[in-house]
Amino acid sequence: MERLIRILKEHGQDRMARYLATVSPDKAGRLAVQLKQIDWDMLELWRLPEPRPQGKISPITGLDRAEIAARKEEFSALGAEAVRAGKVGAVLLAGGQGTRLGFEGPKGMYDIGLTKPVCIFGRLIANLKEVTEGTGARVPLYIMTSAKNDAETRAFFKENNFFGYPKKEVRFFVQEMAPCVDMQGELLLEGDDRLALSPNGNGGWFSSMLRGGLGKDLAARGVEWLNVFSVDNVLQRIADPVFIGATIASGMKCGAKVVRKADPYEKVGVLCLQDGKPSVVEYYDLTEEMANERAADGSLAYSYGVILNYLFNVKRLEEIAAEKIPVHVVKKKIPFYDGSGYYVAPQRENGYKFETLILDMVRLMGDCLPFEVDREREFAPVKNRTGVDSVETARELLAKNGVEL
Ligand code: UTP
Repeated sequence: MERLIRILKEHGQDRMARYLATVSPDKAGRLAVQLKQIDWDMLELWRLPEPRPQGKISPITGLDRAEIAARKEEFSALGAEAVRAGKVGAVLLAGGQGTRLGFEGPKGMYDIGLTKPVCIFGRLIANLKEVTEGTGARVPLYIMTSAKNDAETRAFFKENNFFGYPKKEVRFFVQEMAPCVDMQGELLLEGDDRLALSPNGNGGWFSSMLRGGLGKDLAARGVEWLNVFSVDNVLQRIADPVFIGATIASGMKCGAKVVRKADPYEKVGVLCLQDGKPSVVEYYDLTEEMANERAADGSLAYSYGVILNYLFNVKRLEEIAAEKIPVHVVKKKIPFYDGSGYYVAPQRENGYKFETLILDMVRLMGDCLPFEVDREREFAPVKNRTGVDSVETARELLAKNGVEL
């Protein structure tokens, strides 16, 4: 314990060092187990500016909607063949906390129905079933949860009979957690004997899958492609044969569904090249000139906004599994225990979480096909209660697409 207190002090964790010295040996012991696992280098990152793109940024060529429409039959046949051969799996990223939505519980349980219950998970499974029922194929569904929502998510799927999806095709795995710190970089507590932890971002999904023993499942089933998607886009097509076929036909190891940016300054990550390699660059990393640059046909040169729906080649994922991706420091509202008997639910951002992001994997994949989709038909993210990307906008888009709510 003395050694641990010294380490804490060396890393500026005076408050935690003092706390450890005052609590019972039992509680201190439980905290010590967690403290010993801390990656101190990562915890120091809050002091540094966000990593910025280092290479030369240039536009990327993708498949636009007209070209996809012209080759739809070819792509669809190729993709459906891969799906029928069992080569495609789907990965639902559901480990996030969805703090912007402000819903207690896993975001997928949120009910967006108006006249009947329509939960987000149910909507996503209905979208996936369109493909499995259309092709008569089996698509394994891997669901990533976190320690915070795993039990509730599993129970919800069970209660709802997996929304009519074959239970044997569904596997859950749990992502890792990272400690949270306050604005001065000091560790926060969640209770009197445990640290405040949060899911460590969506960038570690593949390593968490492997850690969860699912590498064997992929190999046994002969899965060659994984379509990874977010929990909150209720309109997205999952295991879409046209997208899969187009990526296979391109000979690339990765595909990304993208939408055309609504305007030069829309706040979305943009798929482009960095030193000739595909990368996703945040909107604030594009200069004013780049944001407004036009291609020969008059469209925006940097217009492919990513919507967190990617197709990854499994072999390539295995090759890059040991590579590191950057950790991002994100300001958030973090509920905490103040060490003297009080729990605080902050109204404003009060600390930092540490997250890796799936968009940083695109660069490691080495190539990536931008595949443009119609945002009115495939992009309805539920991030907020109201306003932009909200329950309201998603409901409108679902209604436009003939989904009864
Ligand atoms: P978001 O970027 O919307 O993050 O996640 P979030 O944490 O869920 O939401 P806010 O920012 O607190 O409101 C995009 C996708 O990545 C998943 C989410 O569940 C969502 O599908 N995700 C995010 C994880 O699976 N794990 C994480 O640690 C973070």
